[in-house]
Amino acid sequence: MDLTLLKEVRLMKNKAKADGKRFVYLATAISALGGMLFGYDIGVISGAILFIQKEFSLSPGMEEIVVSSVLLGSLVGAVVGGILADRLGRRRLLILTALVFGLGAIGAALAPGTAWLLAARVVAGTAIGIASFVAPLYISEIAPVDIRGKLVSINQVALTSGIVISYLVDYAFAGSQAWRWMFALAVIPAAAFGIGLIFIPNSPRWLVDRGHADQARAVLKRIRGPEQVEGELSEIQHSVAQQKGHWSELLSPLLRPAMIVGIGLAIAQQITGINTVIYYAPTIFRFAGLSSASVAILASVGVGVVNVVLTLVAMQLIDRVGRRPLLLVSLAGMALSLFVLGLAFSLPQLSGSLGWIAVASLMVYVGSFAVGLGPVFWLMLSEIYPLRIRGRAMSVGTIANWSANLLVALSFLTLTQVLGKPATFWLYGVVSIGAWLFAFFLVPETKGRSLEEIEAHWRAGKHPRAL
Ligand code: BGC
Repeated sequence: MDLTLLKEVRLMKNKAKADGKRFVYLATAISALGGMLFGYDIGVISGAILFIQKEFSLSPGMEEIVVSSVLLGSLVGAVVGGILADRLGRRRLLILTALVFGLGAIGAALAPGTAWLLAARVVAGTAIGIASFVAPLYISEIAPVDIRGKLVSINQVALTSGIVISYLVDYAFAGSQAWRWMFALAVIPAAAFGIGLIFIPNSPRWLVDRGHADQARAVLKRIRGPEQVEGELSEIQHSVAQQKGHWSELLSPLLRPAMIVGIGLAIAQQITGINTVIYYAPTIFRFAGLSSASVAILASVGVGVVNVVLTLVAMQLIDRVGRRPLLLVSLAGMALSLFVLGLAFSLPQLSGSLGWIAVASLMVYVGSFAVGLGPVFWLMLSEIYPLRIRGRAMSVGTIANWSANLLVALSFLTLTQVLGKPATFWLYGVVSIGAWLFAFFLVPETKGRSLEEIEAHWRAGKHPRAL
């Protein structure tokens, strides 16, 4: 072959590869709308509840139930999502989820009374529970190894942006008390999510699992360019041949370390207290003496923005420095800021500047979460389980995550009354130290490993740290 021809062939191959990568980014952005809806739907209630409480004359107990109904729905979604993700496929399930998101939004917007509203929030919650892990699952299965962390973290960026957008929407509609519009607006991203998903391919890994190797080959050609297809395909086929795909495999001793890592990180992500801030930031600021409502709201938006910005930083670092260093720095920062926050509440000498110390330490706390524990948990959950039971295994971790989320949401205010504010924050601080030790001793480094290599590691019966 002459030299120019060779050059042309190389150029064409590079172009196909670059096109494939662009297509993966597009598919990731569409799937990440699931993350954005997750964030929007958990954030929107904080502003809406003020007006709902008045219009429906809710008692404090009922108000709490309205706020946490979405968590109950998420738990339902986490339970049913795993089996559906393995049976229907990731993409088809996400399309269904987009419809459920839309239904929940319209339902809440039209609610004539409390019972209806509760039902609509449980429906929206179900969609959140499914999207919370199936979006990362899909992204992780189409991603090239070297940018898998970055791509899956885009979902967490979308999630944190969804929270900020919901605060801003609440703020915009607060003047007119138009709480129904706050819910209704979620229909827009839900429609974009559902329509966008129609145009992206099925996960090649799921296709192989279902016996459609030819379709998987075609998808891989589209997203990797023609060159690398056969190697990746045979790696996936080899891994499928190693498992039966039974529920019982979740309990197999070889998989036990992976189950412990997934469930442990799931619980750690919640019981270190992140959602006390996401759900109650204005309340914490009020505790700290920031009495003006607009300053409290502004401070909450500030916390939300820090959450987005530091998640963007994590996204850039996660494939370079790896998951473990980010996780360890993150938990250390969280522990430290929680101790400072507790101290600020406990020392009367500081009471004059308490408000600002509280704002600063909450910013450091949320920033620390965002640079590690936030994105790393959902990423790792999507990486560490064998293909044939990935949906179901992820669902177990997701159930643990949402259960712990509910527990923290329901106990935070009571804890501040029973233990006092300083001890409550110190408690989360001590738990963060426990989580640091867990991460240090048990969490593997998955950077640069293909999903199939990670699987083979467990099959060989090796310790997580040896990966
Ligand atoms: C957590 C959520 C949390 C959010 C905040 C997610 O990774 O799972 O519980 O509200 O991060 O950014």
